Amino acid sequence: MAKIFVDGTEFEVDEKKNLIDALKEKGVEIPHFCYHSKLSVVGMCRICLIEIEGVPKFQAACNTPIKDGMKINAFGEKIVKAREGVMEFLLINHPLDCPVCDKAGECRLQNYSFALGHETTRYKEEKRNIPQEKIGTNLLINHNRCILCYRCVRFDREIVGVNDLEMLARGNDTIIAYTPPETSGEKSTYLNHNYQGALADICPVGALLNENTLFQSRVWWYESQESHCHGCSTLCKVSTNVKNNSLYRYMPTAAAPQSGEISDGIFICDYGRFSGKHFSTDRLHHYVATGAQATSKQVLPDLAEKIAAARSILVLGGATECTDDVDSVAAAIGEWRAAGKQVKWDFRSTAAAFENRAGYDFLLSGDLRPNAKYLRDKGATELTNFVALQSEIRNVDLVIVINELSAPYAYQIAGADEHSAHVAGLEIAAAVEETQLFKTIEGEAAWVKTAVFTTHHNSAALRAALAVPVLAFPEHEGRYVDKNGVTKTTTAVLKPVQGLQSVGQVLSRLKTPVGATV
Ligand code: SF4
Ligand code: SF4
Ligand code: FES
Repeated sequence: MAKIFVDGTEFEVDEKKNLIDALKEKGVEIPHFCYHSKLSVVGMCRICLIEIEGVPKFQAACNTPIKDGMKINAFGEKIVKAREGVMEFLLINHPLDCPVCDKAGECRLQNYSFALGHETTRYKEEKRNIPQEKIGTNLLINHNRCILCYRCVRFDREIVGVNDLEMLARGNDTIIAYTPPETSGEKSTYLNHNYQGALADICPVGALLNENTLFQSRVWWYESQESHCHGCSTLCKVSTNVKNNSLYRYMPTAAAPQSGEISDGIFICDYGRFSGKHFSTDRLHHYVATGAQATSKQVLPDLAEKIAAARSILVLGGATECTDDVDSVAAAIGEWRAAGKQVKWDFRSTAAAFENRAGYDFLLSGDLRPNAKYLRDKGATELTNFVALQSEIRNVDLVIVINELSAPYAYQIAGADEHSAHVAGLEIAAAVEETQLFKTIEGEAAWVKTAVFTTHHNSAALRAALAVPVLAFPEHEGRYVDKNGVTKTTTAVLKPVQGLQSVGQVLSRLKTPVGATV
C-alpha cells in the first residue's frame, strides 16, 4: 500500500493498481474517456490530466504509476482550466446532437461536458461532416461524434480477440473503420461478433450505436433492477431495462467491480443483451387442447389422466427453469417412477456444455440453457442424438416438453443460430418449426401423445395434444446454478398476466382422476 495526497487529503491506496481505479475505490473520480480498467492504457484523450508536485508538466493520471508520498493536484484551479481546454478540443468536431442521440443520458461526454466544459463554443469554423455508417450487423458509427479514444479498437483486439477495427487517415480526417479480417479468403461486409452491444457501451460517446434498439427509448424511461442474464449458463450479472412491461435490453451492471471477473457484469454479450425482448411478444396466455383454446379445468385433468395411463414417459427439457421448478419436475418424476412408470428425463445438452463458444466469444457458454448444470446434478440425461431421440419418442406413451419448443428456447434454428437471429432482430417464434426438436416430434402420432409447457404461442402449442401456458423467467424470481456451480438469482421485472403459473406450480396442481398427487 502507498500513502498519496490528493488536493491535501491523504489516501492509502494499492500501488499495484492504476491511479484512476485506486482513487475511484476511495471515492475520488478522476475524469477519463480512453482509460478502461480492462484495456491497455493509451493516454489518448488527456481529460485525466493531473499535476504532480515536483513534476514540471501535467501528467495523464491513467498513465501515472502510484508512488508512496506522491502529492497530486486533481481538482485545483489550474488543472480544472486545463481539462476545460481538453474538453474544448474534444468538442471541436462534435455535433450538438444530445437531443437526438441514443447515448444521451448514459454518455460520459455529455456528463463531463456539463461538469467540465464551457456553456458556449468559441469554435466558429465548419465542423467535419462524415455520413453515419453501418459497420456491424447491429452496429452503426457516427464518425462526427467520435472522440478517437481508441477504446473500441482495443476492446476488439484485447477482449474479443479480433483485429477488425482500425483508425484510418490523419488529423481532421481520422476515422474508426471496420477492417475485415480475412477468414478462409473471404472478407465479411460487417463486423459480426457477439459483442457489438459491448462496443456501444464501451464507447464513451454516442459514436457507436446498436441498430436494433436505435430510437426505441430514451434511457431515462427505462426501469432498472439488478438481475442475472438468463441467456446461457454463464448467468452474467446485469441491469434490466424495462419499459411498458417489455424487457428491452440488459446492460452491464453499474455495480460491476472494476477489478472483478468479466462475467461479473463488466461486459455482456449481444445474445443475452437482447434476449429478454422475446418475452413480451407471442406469449401463450391460455391453455390449448388439440389446437383449440381451452381452460385449466379441461387441460390439467386431461394431462393428469394421460400421465396416470402412461406406462412410459419422456420428459424433455427443464434446464430453462429455475431450481425450484426443476425440483418440482424432479419430484414429479420421482413419484411417477415410484408408481412403476418408466420415466426418462432428458435435457438435450450439447457436448460443448459449459465451455465457451469457439471463435470470438469469451462469455457465451456452449450451453444456452441457464440451469443445465443443476439439471445434470438432478440426474437428467443428455441425449443429443436426434435419431435416438426420435426412436425414444416413438416408443414412449407420453412426451412432456418443458419450454424447449418455446421461442426463444428453440435453439437449433435452420440456417442461423439464435444469436444471429437476435442480433439481426428477427422474430424467432416463427422459426420454431425449423428446430431439430420440432422435426423430431414431427408426425401426427407423435404430436398426439405430446404435452408442452410453454411460454410462447406458436405452432408447437397448436400441434401438441395439450399446451400449458407458463410464466417466463422475468416474471418471477428464480435461482439458477451457473456453469461453475455458483447459485445466482434472477429478478421478477415483468408483470405476468393474472393466474399464469410456473412449471413447478402447475405440476403441483396436477391431480390424478382419483385425487392423488401425481
Ligand atoms: S467510436 Fe467511440 S470508442 Fe471508438 S474511438 Fe470513437 S469515441 Fe472511442
Ligand atoms: S454470456 Fe450468457 S449470461 Fe452472459 S450476457 Fe451472454 S447470454 Fe447472458
Ligand atoms: S483517460 Fe487518461 S488520457 Fe484518456
